[in-house]
Amino acid sequence: MNIIDSPGTGQTQQERFEKTRTLIFPDSNFACRELAAEVAELIRTRKEKGKNVVMGLATGSTPVPFYRELIRLHNEEGLDFRNVITFNLDEYYGLTADHPESYNRFMRDQLFDHVNIPNEQINIPDGTVALDEVYGSCIDYEGRIQEAGGLDLQILGIGRTGHIGFNEPGSAEDSKTRMITLDRVTRQDAAADFMGVANVPRSAITMGVGTILDAKRLVLMAWGENKAEIVREAVEGEVTDRISASFLQTHDNATFLVDTAAASKLTRRHHPWLVGSVKWDEQTTKRAVIWLSQKLDTPLLKLVDEDYNENGVGELLVSQNRQAYHVNIDVFNQVQQTISGWPGGKQGTEGENRPGRAQPFPKKVLILSPEPHDAFVGMGGTIERLVEQGHDVKIAFQTSGNLRVGDTAAQQFANVVLEMAETGLGGDWEKQVGYAQSILDQLEAKGEFGIDPEDVRKLKGLVLRGEGREAGRNAGLTPEQMVFLDLPFYDAGRYRRFALKESDTVRMFEMLQSWKPHQIYATGNVADPSSLQALSFNAFTAAMERCADEEWRSDCRVWLYRGSDQAAMEIHEIGMAVPMSPDQIAIKCDAVRKFQSIGSAENEAAGSIQQTATLYDDLGMAEYEAIEAFHLQDA
Ligand code: GLP
Repeated sequence: MNIIDSPGTGQTQQERFEKTRTLIFPDSNFACRELAAEVAELIRTRKEKGKNVVMGLATGSTPVPFYRELIRLHNEEGLDFRNVITFNLDEYYGLTADHPESYNRFMRDQLFDHVNIPNEQINIPDGTVALDEVYGSCIDYEGRIQEAGGLDLQILGIGRTGHIGFNEPGSAEDSKTRMITLDRVTRQDAAADFMGVANVPRSAITMGVGTILDAKRLVLMAWGENKAEIVREAVEGEVTDRISASFLQTHDNATFLVDTAAASKLTRRHHPWLVGSVKWDEQTTKRAVIWLSQKLDTPLLKLVDEDYNENGVGELLVSQNRQAYHVNIDVFNQVQQTISGWPGGKQGTEGENRPGRAQPFPKKVLILSPEPHDAFVGMGGTIERLVEQGHDVKIAFQTSGNLRVGDTAAQQFANVVLEMAETGLGGDWEKQVGYAQSILDQLEAKGEFGIDPEDVRKLKGLVLRGEGREAGRNAGLTPEQMVFLDLPFYDAGRYRRFALKESDTVRMFEMLQSWKPHQIYATGNVADPSSLQALSFNAFTAAMERCADEEWRSDCRVWLYRGSDQAAMEIHEIGMAVPMSPDQIAIKCDAVRKFQSIGSAENEAAGSIQQTATLYDDLGMAEYEAIEAFHLQDA
């Protein structure tokens, strides 16, 4: 792949729905290594000719692995950035360069402080100019890009609204650098960074769609399943100002780089039978028939031969020499068999086709929750079932989640301590008063958006720990069944910029070795690779690899679930569907409600599990109130 010079090469049959060239990589590291190698090549060849490279840069978690690779090339292979001029896409309005969430600060932390781009060659929109000077400063920004010779390569991420930079829905194709009001969804997505949506700035300064399209080359990166739907719309849908990334279709040298999770909704991955011949094995057959049923809004058992033929799946019937009737029944049975109210297996059902194997019984079960509320949101009902059905359950909270806790929770705690001392409950309160006062002072000193000092993070983590215990108790767990792992990567980092360390794997490894579970529930496998869910998952898988030769390992199954902020599992991916009654949902929501300090994720707790139940019902399965979904990880 030549990132800069070659426009899209000819498309294959499989890619014919894609209107912008899209390259799918096994994971973000592969993609970023390739992109960084091309950029390095460009920097070097331009340098030999005594010329500069003008790069447009992006923020967010998406480009983080790319920047890490550039830093590695600088440190280990001597890549020299002195001939690089950079222009960043955007900046929040109202944030100073030093604000921990400003894009200026982000870029220094993630790239500029680690490579040798001369300071005067770095350009980032200024979020602090007075309102009446914004227009002038935007014109000036455009002028500086022109003066530098125009952008050679613009790096892009994509927001959930389909925006590039901060070009929210409605941004015109020829728009230039300007101030923009942020969309509700965009602010919601930034809420965790700012410890609450109320703190997220309402506006930003961004390069326009036109500014971006003027670049000679565009590379948009997207990782993780949460981006899959918007990537599909941008790549396969109409060009529309509702999705500014769709304008890349009009550029003659634009490429999407995506990982398999972000590619999962593209036609060639999601319903490949529409773009060519496929191997009709059991899994593909199941996928295709479920897809057909959903597309036609017809229950599985009512699909007829014509439905298959008229919708591009006729080949399935021909290749298997069967009629729709028989295929329908097969798939119906497969989906039916995923439903089980016995997630840990049911004694006396050996040999039956159930997702949870009957033996051993009771099982030692380990539930991994990246942040304390993840497991309760994703599988709260199942936790309760496992406990009630007599399994030996442990829940391990992988991180403390303290970054999600607002200042108010810490203030309240400190104030209660001061009140208690004041009311003279007896004993010597000097130490406690000193502690509470120092928390209040530190909160005051850092200000609303400042980075929490260690003491404050610790306290916030403990507040959440208490809530986690309450939630666990709600689900029937005793204090001994709850383990707080506090993986070190979390406490050394911030959202979108975490980095895993050996100590994380070691801690996970020790946990696994001490418990030797028969069944594990984990999440984060299809999350954005920089997210804490993904890092928590990676620490787990790295630890599992170290256990490869252990006896317990070969007798242990791993079920994957979708935690907080993650898209629901698709029906064809579900290997175990645990149904829930309205009463059970109420219990689950009660548990989730315990996480008061991070704002209730209650709606989320019920939302996607009810949606899954509706999808099962639509296929012609029994009608449940909700279903918690799990996917069996390959052995
Ligand atoms: C923000 C930025 C975009 C970025 C998007 C996605 O809106 N302005 O440039 O692409 O977030 O962020 P992330 O990469 O963290 O998913």
